[in-house]
Amino acid sequence: MGGNNPYIEQAQYELPKTKYRLRFLPDGQEVLVDPTEIPYDDDGLPGSVLDIALSHGIDIDHACGGVLACSTCHVYVVEGLSSCNATSEDEEDMLDNARAVKPGKSRLACQCVPNGTQDVIIEIPTWNRNLARE
Ligand code: FES
Repeated sequence: MGGNNPYIEQAQYELPKTKYRLRFLPDGQEVLVDPTEIPYDDDGLPGSVLDIALSHGIDIDHACGGVLACSTCHVYVVEGLSSCNATSEDEEDMLDNARAVKPGKSRLACQCVPNGTQDVIIEIPTWNRNLARE
């Protein structure tokens, strides 16, 4: 799916210039993100946590296809949040609908784009792991 949501402001983000590691908890899968491979052409912003996860076989629920129209891709940034783009007002509004929000850690995976200046650890809440493959 994917695409653009015409009802939100364009997100601001900076793509990485160097390789960095993105690790997913609780299973511990690790991806070495190579900036030359972005965009992966999956769902969410190019280089977003969702884009990277899906293109490496790591499922995160994403009911709207990564266009900031749901909150099913809610994840926790355990480490490396300061290297990610700022949360937009539209993302904040959507996070209001997410369950178990943790201030300072909660992000929507489709909108969270690390800039590669540090490694990032993401925790996927159990209810957001998409166990059914399409
Ligand atoms: Fe819907 Fe991220 S997949 S907001």
